Amino acid sequence: MSLLEVRDLRVTYGSGADAVPAVRGVDLTLEPGTKLGVAGESGCGKSTLALALLRLLPASARIEGEIRLDGDDVLTMSWGRLRAVRWAGASIVFQGAMHSLNAVQRIGEQIAEPLLVHGRATPAAARGRVAELLEHVGLPAARAAAHPHELSGGQRQRVMIAMALACDPRLIIADEPTTALDVMVQAQILRLIELLVAEQSIGLLMISHDLAVLADTCDRLAVMYAGRIVEEGPARAVHEAAAHPYGRALSSAFPRIGDPASRRAPRGLLGDPPDPAALPGGCAFHPRCPVAVDGCTESDQQLREAGAGHRVACIHVGSTP
Ligand SMILES: Nc1ncnc2c1ncn2[C@@H]1O[C@H](COP(=O)(O)OP(=O)(O)O)[C@@H](O)[C@H]1O
Ligand SMILES: [Mg+2]
Repeated sequence: MSLLEVRDLRVTYGSGADAVPAVRGVDLTLEPGTKLGVAGESGCGKSTLALALLRLLPASARIEGEIRLDGDDVLTMSWGRLRAVRWAGASIVFQGAMHSLNAVQRIGEQIAEPLLVHGRATPAAARGRVAELLEHVGLPAARAAAHPHELSGGQRQRVMIAMALACDPRLIIADEPTTALDVMVQAQILRLIELLVAEQSIGLLMISHDLAVLADTCDRLAVMYAGRIVEEGPARAVHEAAAHPYGRALSSAFPRIGDPASRRAPRGLLGDPPDPAALPGGCAFHPRCPVAVDGCTESDQQLREAGAGHRVACIHVGSTP
């Protein structure tokens, strides 16, 4: 059974004339112990997708489609089951560790909290487990007594990873886990995540605007644009031989890991992704596409085979239906 199966996932914020279709029919499969990267510029729906997977979206969001975690239907499960799944089944590491940590609570207490809440440990056992988790992420056990402001950005992100690991999740969702860090620390944190998921055979869904970071860490890559996956395949094929013009723009924008230029728009691509409330007709990428033809404005493209396990939604790839 797949660890994660997403079928035709749609997320819309608001309703009526103000509806924002942020995710528009996403399919994903993640096998146990494998690593999938989701790439795309800011505003393409990556965080909305991540939050939907654990039903963490605001009440204004409507979710449709199907999400199965270890076969369990996330969208229909009870709140009690969902709470258990949020830590023990899957946990999320977010970008801004400073905002996710409680400024006035010692980090040891914050790491222990999910263990206590989910009845995984007694208070005494939790202290031991916190020390173990801190050492696991490369921090001295004595740092348990520190407050978040006493730690560097990289150390705080290690604490977030320790928290995510606390209940032995089967899946970790990491949304831009290193974007706020400088290049050296970025590389260390990525190596740490890689090591931990490999050691414990945890599935990883990692989100980044930086395709090179994902290609280096993940087995498979999905490229997201305007709420849809436009290209998906083995990491190497997508990074080195992207077949969708947007995939190509992203891979040429980020030739090296941690490239400082990578925070700016992809090279050679003008403008921004469309506002999901005002999507262009046809393929949503056509207004920015260097190889757009007339047909691109007429109908949107479905993903089609473009090689072994490599699928692309572009009029120039595969046979047009
Ligand atoms: N709570 C919200 N209410 C309304 N629109 C939102 C909300 N959160 C995100 N959006 C919109 O959804 C789109 C996708 O956002 P997001 O998922 O954060 O993309 P990404 O993570 O790829 O930058 C954007 O247009 C964003 O403005
Ligand atoms: Mg985001």
